[in-house]
Amino acid sequence: MHLRNGAHGYGVVTKALHWLTVAAIAAQFGVGLAMDLDDVTDRAEDRLGAEEERLEEGAEGRGEAAEEQAEAEIERREDALDARADDAAGDVVTDVVGGDAVADGLSLPELHVVLGLSIVALGVVRLLWRRATPLPPWAEHLSAGERRLEGGLEKVLLGSLLVVPATGLLLVAAGDDWLPLHVTAQLVFLAAIAGHVGLVLRHTVLRRDRHLARML
Ligand code: HEM
Ligand code: HEM
Repeated sequence: MHLRNGAHGYGVVTKALHWLTVAAIAAQFGVGLAMDLDDVTDRAEDRLGAEEERLEEGAEGRGEAAEEQAEAEIERREDALDARADDAAGDVVTDVVGGDAVADGLSLPELHVVLGLSIVALGVVRLLWRRATPLPPWAEHLSAGERRLEGGLEKVLLGSLLVVPATGLLLVAAGDDWLPLHVTAQLVFLAAIAGHVGLVLRHTVLRRDRHLARML
């Protein structure tokens, strides 16, 4: 078993770092989007609060039966909203992070920050490791153009591991006005991932070159 990269291909350290990063990024996008759903739920709760007041006021002074009816209606709507919120946020986090324990222990935004900082740490370790170990020879089947493209994409991918969390930290430190920057950085990252995975799959699936096996 080779720890370092070399003429044989990628070593286990590079492979472990690569797939750890993929898992952390997938979880982070899941949590980020679930936080967004949380916002939607918050807005729905505000609307429900206003409607409840209206129902209570409407029933006031119209006898006990009307008041009871209004209460029952309020309860029904609250239950429906709870169920929707559970479906929306709960499912995503449970699916992505792998258990209620995590969701119960940390709030989604906390989880998002902790994962984000782990991604920065992974990015730094990957950059240091890349300097400490040679890159393996190129996969033979890649054309000169594809090698240039892959080289460029890898720079954007590694850079994103630092830049995307940095825009997240900026958002937390300087306020919501910076959300568009965080989202733009994510989109650039996603585009680079799409290009990278597309290139790998193009050879693996379409040309049957076993390109993916280089990283497995
Ligand atoms: C690679 C790292 C990261 C990824 C992939 C990521 C991804 C996301 C995603 C998908 C969203 C939902 C926004 C949308 O698209 O509408 C989001 C929102 C957000 N992220 Fe990140 N994020 C990362 C790192 C961070 C870090 C390190 C922080 C803070 C220290 C952070 C803070 C936030 C905040 C405050 C929001 C706004 C939530 C809201 O108001 O809806 N992010 N992120
Ligand atoms: C499911 C998604 C992914 C698949 C299938 C995949 C597959 C691969 C494969 C097969 C290679 C070897 C390429 C070669 O030398 O021929 C590779 C290398 C690489 N991948 Fe990915 N990858 C994925 C996601 C990512 C993500 C999210 C990043 C983000 C940082 C990334 C960053 C890199 C880098 C930087 C290399 C060059 C080796 C290194 O310096 O570690 N990959 N990937």
